[in-house]
Amino acid sequence: MEKNIAIIEGDGIGPEVTRQAVRVLDAIAETYNHQFDYTYCLMGADAIDKTGNPLPDETIEVCLASDAILFGAIGHPKYDNDPTAKVRPEQGLLRLRKSLQLFANLRPVTTYPALHHLSPLKQKNVEGVDFVIYRELTGGIYFGKKELNAEGTQASDDCVYAAEEISRIAHLAFQAAQKRRKKLTLVDKANVLETSRLWRKVVKEIAAGYADVELDFLFVDNAAMQIILNPKQFDVILTENMFGDIISDEASVITGSLGLLPSASIGNGSALFEPIHGSYPQAAGKDIANPLGSILSAAMLLDHFGLSDEAAIVREAVNWTLTHGFVTKDIDPVNFYFTSTLGELISDYVSGRIPGSVKSENIELRKSTII
Ligand code: IPM
Ligand code: MG
Repeated sequence: MEKNIAIIEGDGIGPEVTRQAVRVLDAIAETYNHQFDYTYCLMGADAIDKTGNPLPDETIEVCLASDAILFGAIGHPKYDNDPTAKVRPEQGLLRLRKSLQLFANLRPVTTYPALHHLSPLKQKNVEGVDFVIYRELTGGIYFGKKELNAEGTQASDDCVYAAEEISRIAHLAFQAAQKRRKKLTLVDKANVLETSRLWRKVVKEIAAGYADVELDFLFVDNAAMQIILNPKQFDVILTENMFGDIISDEASVITGSLGLLPSASIGNGSALFEPIHGSYPQAAGKDIANPLGSILSAAMLLDHFGLSDEAAIVREAVNWTLTHGFVTKDIDPVNFYFTSTLGELISDYVSGRIPGSVKSENIELRKSTII
């Protein structure tokens, strides 16, 4: 198979984690006889520094012409601490989502036995958690009209949804539920918001065509609580843009490390894959960030190409590193391995070079200086 992949390394730890994911993709290409051609492009604070624009036109053109996009991370503290900044890195990502019509953001949340002890939840609640959030990504309050009055004393953000924007992602979520445990939960605030009442109406109508899927509804405040109290109850969660942003960060901590979670943003054309973590500027350039979120995003990319065996071997390799204690600093702050070491181990695994031959004493282990 021959595919064009746009690579946007982005900000902070983005470049170093993305490099490991590309390394794994290279190993897949070599082992399974595929050709992946990469085109690197700019977005975020990096793009502002180099071009003054968080999303140069060239990046949009390259992405539109690609089969998929692998993206690292976005954001820089110099903008976070300056609410008056007119140009912000995040504008790049939001514009890219809109330009490519990436209307559905998929965030799978699965737990790993090797990491249960890191979860803030009790072990019995963490075991067997396996759900996926379908977050609407190009509508709602993120993209509504924004206003600030002349005196700077009143502001508003409109939240607008059209039935069509709801139904196109709802169909994807129902189809995903059909392939999973056949349960779909719509998270909204229909007791208060008109947009949420439209979501309920549209989703109920669509449900008639998916009789094998059980549909239920949760208000977002209750959902926020249920995700912590009993995350196992969920299979597919469908929700609007802002609720999805919030509950997906909440859900991510269940696994024990934010560094592990991948995501896919899909629409009608090329799709974008990115770890859900941020740019973690404090760790940038230190080779300590967790590359698994990016590598697992590459696995979702392979799935998207229909390469399910290839995606499965990447996931198997990730599991292998976790169960053998090859983990980065976020998981074991005392005895940890480098970002690049993890990338090397996982690409070796997919090339069939381990387990047999690996000797952990031959791999550079970085001892923390705090003990
Ligand atoms: C995410 C991020 C983005 C969002 C930011 C960086 C604009 O938090 O992908 O969840 O709010 O959608
Ligand atoms: Mg977010």
